[in-house]
Amino acid sequence: MARRLQDKVALVLGAGSIGPGWGNGKATAVAYAREGARVVAVDLDLAAAQETAGLIHAEGGLCEPLQADVTRDADVARLVAHSLAWQGRIDILHNNVGMAYLGGPVEMSEQTWNQSLQVNLGGLFLSTKHVLPVMEAQGAGAIVNVSSIASIRWLGTAYIGYASAKAAVNQFTQAIALQYARRGIRANAILPGMMNTPTARASLGSTFADEADLVARRNAACPTGAMGDAWDIAWASVFLASDEAKYITGVLLPVDGGMTCKAV
Ligand SMILES: NC(=O)c1ccc[n+]([C@@H]2O[C@H](COP(=O)([O-])OP(=O)(O)OC[C@H]3O[C@@H](n4cnc5c(N)ncnc54)[C@H](O)[C@@H]3O)[C@@H](O)[C@H]2O)c1
Repeated sequence: MARRLQDKVALVLGAGSIGPGWGNGKATAVAYAREGARVVAVDLDLAAAQETAGLIHAEGGLCEPLQADVTRDADVARLVAHSLAWQGRIDILHNNVGMAYLGGPVEMSEQTWNQSLQVNLGGLFLSTKHVLPVMEAQGAGAIVNVSSIASIRWLGTAYIGYASAKAAVNQFTQAIALQYARRGIRANAILPGMMNTPTARASLGSTFADEADLVARRNAACPTGAMGDAWDIAWASVFLASDEAKYITGVLLPVDGGMTCKAV
């Protein structure tokens, strides 16, 4: 039986993990490869991209690890050119880069505010800007943007720049979906809930007593009694990136164990 992403080329931005275990980007890059995609795994940290590529190679997949800072236009132009030189096309653009910077508007410096917008929104703007002409020339493409349920809900932690940038990611996704709907290009966003990933534990660590406290309290806040994991994001991404979702565009899909249905 054909795999779900057979013969597709996927560009995954933020494809590494900042620590041991599975982050959303790393799991998604591996899941794309398991479904037959050839993957360009991009990360700020080359060693992290290489680790993901090593996992894919070990399973017999094809992966090209690249170092880039997605907030820099020259880096993004370079990685798109490199992807085209490697495989000649880009079918899937997966924007996973994102980071929560703590604080409300009073506590947060203007510099951190600007950084929140750049990391969570600016990189996605640049990658989309460079990849859309490629997809348009192909007459096909699927964009998967990783947002957050923090874009539509207060989750008990102040990270005003992150929540604002992710809300913009949602509207950015829907605007692209409609602007390009007649050109064979789909754009959807995934809104992860509370996921147990190395980045989440690192970026939110200071708001909990220790890691055990973080895990226990985040588990307790979830309707299912447990956080999700990176594979929940990965398999939702595979579906949205695949032709199974050919009539799905502009969707903001919570992957949150029901958290956004909750009133208290
Ligand atoms: N984990 C959660 O609970 C959760 C919840 C909601 C949303 N999300 C979203 O999921 C995505 C990431 O998930 P994760 O927490 O599993 O992290 P992750 O493990 O996927 O790590 C992200 C990777 O992005 C890389 N990166 C950071 N800045 C970069 C840059 N400028 N250029 C290139 N690469 C860069 C990091 O080095 C890291 O390897 C983010 O968009 C995040 O906002 C996560």
